[in-house]
Amino acid sequence: MKISLTPLTRSAFQADLFVIGCFKGMKDLKPLRKTDPGFIAAAEAAIAKKRFEGKTGEVFSSYQTGYRQAPEAVLLGLGEKDSFTVASLRKAVGSVIGTANARKASKVRVLFDSFLTGAINRESAAKVFSETSFLAAYKFSQYKTRTKDDPPKALESVELVTEIKEGLSGLRSALAHSEKIAQAVILARDLNNEPGNIMNPPRLAREAKKLAAAKKLKCRIFGLAELKRMGMNGILAVNQGSPTPPALIVLECGQKYKKRGTVCLVGKGVTFDTGGISIKPSKNMEEMKYDKSGAVAVIATMGLLADLKLPVHVVGLAPAVENNVANDPQRPGDIIKMFNGKTVAVMNTDAEGRLILADALSYCERYRPAAIIDVATLTGMCHHTFGDKTCGILGNNPELIAAVQKAGEKVGERCWELPLWDEYGDCIKGSQSDLQNVGDGYAGTITAAMFLKEFVPAKTPWVHLDIAGVGNCTQNRFDCQKGATGFGVRLFTEFLSYWNAGAFLKK
Ligand code: BES
Ligand code: MN
Ligand code: ZN
Repeated sequence: MKISLTPLTRSAFQADLFVIGCFKGMKDLKPLRKTDPGFIAAAEAAIAKKRFEGKTGEVFSSYQTGYRQAPEAVLLGLGEKDSFTVASLRKAVGSVIGTANARKASKVRVLFDSFLTGAINRESAAKVFSETSFLAAYKFSQYKTRTKDDPPKALESVELVTEIKEGLSGLRSALAHSEKIAQAVILARDLNNEPGNIMNPPRLAREAKKLAAAKKLKCRIFGLAELKRMGMNGILAVNQGSPTPPALIVLECGQKYKKRGTVCLVGKGVTFDTGGISIKPSKNMEEMKYDKSGAVAVIATMGLLADLKLPVHVVGLAPAVENNVANDPQRPGDIIKMFNGKTVAVMNTDAEGRLILADALSYCERYRPAAIIDVATLTGMCHHTFGDKTCGILGNNPELIAAVQKAGEKVGERCWELPLWDEYGDCIKGSQSDLQNVGDGYAGTITAAMFLKEFVPAKTPWVHLDIAGVGNCTQNRFDCQKGATGFGVRLFTEFLSYWNAGAFLKK
């Protein structure tokens, strides 16, 4: 797909579909006549007959071979102008792409100006158009066999037309900037949508290596032998039941900005979670291929940081394992000695994410990070608490939590905080070991985070994002088809673009 911004002209090459946004109660379409007088006359007639009112998502469509911009033109309802926000614009752009898909249009022309309000600046609007168009148009069709009667009907182009005369080059760079972001989200989705039989730990490591080569990132993969030598027994124990070896993927960028403080991003990479011996019920188990959502978010973010050349030293770590029962799986009750020396009784082999993250978190110590953010599909409880709309956020530093939350809010990846009070740690104390990997069954999202906290290097600001509910969606959404969402890439990038260690470290 391509996105462009061009001046509105009378005799453009025709598109397949022309879209004009229309706020509720907009009666006077005169200023729009110059876009396509024939269509505007039809639209005015429809509005006069109350066949179209401009409610959010409402569509008035008309088809005439004589139309100027495209044979098919639509008015897309945008709702109340006064309450139109960036979030509403995202949904509106989602509707533009949804309409294009429904109408089988491959070249869409959109009157950019009709989506603008005083409250949203043009540059942000351009960014939303670019990002959301790419994301909404994304489809994982890798494994669909194509036949002659069923050719792929991909959206080819979104052409924004405008009467704005000044600052077009600024708007075009906004489009390009957001395209890079969207492509990284798409990479995360692509990696995550791959099934467990394909995207196993060694394959994920290869993909990370490939990305590192393309974007000139530093990359190190620790394989089975190295993990054994290092004593990464959390990672090893979880992967014990799998016929394929584990990997710890480490990507690094911006080394020359070390002085500004290092940020470690740690993502859970369980390429498939059967639950292990504490096996999961078969209903919806296929969704456990998305148990690598955290890892793919971190990997894709690293590539994007290189693209955007952000001035921050970032280390991305992704422990990759498969939680299976095929080889020599760990048993409930097994006691393992973790990378940082603490012992853990594995009471439930399905609480595996915290075991692999624990080792990766302790390993961060060698970078003396100014902040660590981990991201993981960690608990079913978090999905139950926040549904598929919000991610859980917990951590040991209120300023860092606030900064991450703010970044999420800005990009539409919302996080809501749960408390990490010491009392919640009582139930993960072990009786014959230092710790056990599950609590008493209550407050599961919090006890999981309390467990991670035991492995965070001392005095290091740390935030944990539980993306169990948001890593994949089970229904089509305005900007995402059923499947992986790529959650985290935009949040991390937004957070890092304002990175200033001093702002939350020195109190
Ligand atoms: N990967 C799951 C969490 C999960 C569940 C993510 C549903 C997305 C949707 C994780 O490894 C897990 O199994 N957690 C257990 C923890 C429990 C055994 C303490 C859970 O949530 O049931
Ligand atoms: Mn599990
Ligand atoms: Zn899991």
